[in-house]
Amino acid sequence: MFKTHNCGQLRDAHIGQTVTLAGWVMRRRDHGGLIFIDLRDRYGLTQVKIDPSCVSADDFKRAESLRSEFVVQFEARPTGMANPKLATGSIELAVRRVSILNPAKTPPFEIDTDSDTTDESLRLKYRYLDLRRERMTKNLTIRHRLVKFIRDFLDERGFLEVETPILFKSTPEGAREYLVPSRVHPGEFYALPQSPQQLKQLLMVGGIERYFQIARCFRDEDQRADRQPEFTQLDMEMSFVDRDDIMMLVEELLVAFAEEYESLHRRSLMFKPFKRMAFDQVMETYGRDKPDIRYGMELFDATTATRNSEFLPFRTSNVKGIVARGCAGYTRKQTDDLTDVAKKAGAKGLIALWHDAIAGSELGGYRASGAGSKLGDAEKSAIQTASSSLPGDLVLLVADDDREVANKALGELRHELGARLRLGDDTKLAFLWVIDFPSFVRDSETGNWAANHHLFTAPKDDWLDRLEANPSLARSKQYDLVCNGFEVAGGSIRIHQRDTQERVMRILGLSMEEARRKFGHLLDAFEYGAPPHGGIAPGIDRLAMLFAGAPNIREVIAFPKNQQAADIMLDIPSPATDRQLKELQIRLVE
Ligand code: AMO
Repeated sequence: MFKTHNCGQLRDAHIGQTVTLAGWVMRRRDHGGLIFIDLRDRYGLTQVKIDPSCVSADDFKRAESLRSEFVVQFEARPTGMANPKLATGSIELAVRRVSILNPAKTPPFEIDTDSDTTDESLRLKYRYLDLRRERMTKNLTIRHRLVKFIRDFLDERGFLEVETPILFKSTPEGAREYLVPSRVHPGEFYALPQSPQQLKQLLMVGGIERYFQIARCFRDEDQRADRQPEFTQLDMEMSFVDRDDIMMLVEELLVAFAEEYESLHRRSLMFKPFKRMAFDQVMETYGRDKPDIRYGMELFDATTATRNSEFLPFRTSNVKGIVARGCAGYTRKQTDDLTDVAKKAGAKGLIALWHDAIAGSELGGYRASGAGSKLGDAEKSAIQTASSSLPGDLVLLVADDDREVANKALGELRHELGARLRLGDDTKLAFLWVIDFPSFVRDSETGNWAANHHLFTAPKDDWLDRLEANPSLARSKQYDLVCNGFEVAGGSIRIHQRDTQERVMRILGLSMEEARRKFGHLLDAFEYGAPPHGGIAPGIDRLAMLFAGAPNIREVIAFPKNQQAADIMLDIPSPATDRQLKELQIRLVE
């Protein structure tokens, strides 16, 4: 062994013993003929002192040559001393022997500062150096604890961890897939799983009853702060359960983890039990199906307030709004920026009302420009009542014939303002279950019906007989778990009967021939005694990100891809060799 103790371990009790430590040089300071080294390993920092009168001349020379990130080993004796900055500050190590295990080039960025100022592409190119930072070690520790906790928790409750194949078949979960060519079957391809959805349902038909897997999933979609092309789910499925059984189990797991490891992640739960809201109510209140409920800023309805407006769009539309507290100082430029956010989300425009204080009036009044100036005093006062705005606030209104458009645009504005104004308390986690989702949504490209979650999701019982009559109104047994504005888990009770599954496939426009080709294995399995079943898949990366308080999921993944789905350290994706292509019988076209 290269070390008897680690750098976070030594305390008063070790004074007088001889210890060996090994790690990286964090800092070297030469002071009054002595050399002080801050030695770092995964566990912490320890200060060592090299006194020329206590070591050989060669050892002292070696110590003089030490620079940041050299890998070193010290034999030393702990003595009492005080450096309150370090956890190990009550002792100091008087070095007896110095060994250099490996020198190091000057790193491309400083490792001992934990600031975010280092360019991320540099961090990703030298990820092995970035991982030495305390923050990254902590993030990976939180992730490890989470996964270990999950395994133990589910094992204690009778779950079996089962691995499912990575070389799989196309799975319809909304994203593009990664295809893998087969050498043995030229011209044919495997697909990497978007999730083990169908296989876990087949495990239920297979009588496993309680399954989980820490499952790697692959989706070729545009990258965002909370998305990676490959990511990890806690994939779960249970037989003979209803929606509440699954939701309660996941909630129990997350509450238990959050509480047991609070001193590690330093975040507390804002709501216990988790809040629950129906999709329609969530959209009316927050305009987003994954709202951040750490703060209010709820949407208000000004449709009645503006009913008699002279401005036609107000009279015929749904008018909804939000109040940005304390933002009456926003300039036109700032509200123009907000208008762009609303327009990007589908709104035709945005009306801003500045709630000014007026001398002698407790209520103050609205100042407006553009379309807002067409509002009469009576309407302004009705809007004031509907919004409960106060002097100093900025009121933002969206009018649209389609209520959903008005809600969604304000939902995006609320989200944007919440981030800009830092309305969410960073030390809190606010979980919310969203239930009663629509079964189907219109695919914006094709105009066809698409499954809101996935096509295996069961409709609610009261919709079963009349699904085809009005698919847009049908509600399903889907449930999503949301936290601080992120979707952290999605799941549903599944269809387990062939005829219902085929009806849903027909609504989605699948021919029975196509359905059999793509899903024949599942449809057949449903005819051999498939139990009622359901499941869920919390995203491990997103949960770890939230518990770590990280700004994106790349911070909790050891070797993530960048925003362009590339790994600049490994230089991938990269071209295949001619030989590889020939073996696969693939010809590239310009
Ligand atoms: P869904 O597609 O909602 O459901 O995914 C479940 C959870 O996986 C995480 N997630 C991602 N994390 C990082 N990067 C991504 N690209 C990414 N995509 C999804 C999210 C999300 O909530 N088979 C169903 C689950 C089920 O029905 O049981 C499924 O995959 O946290």
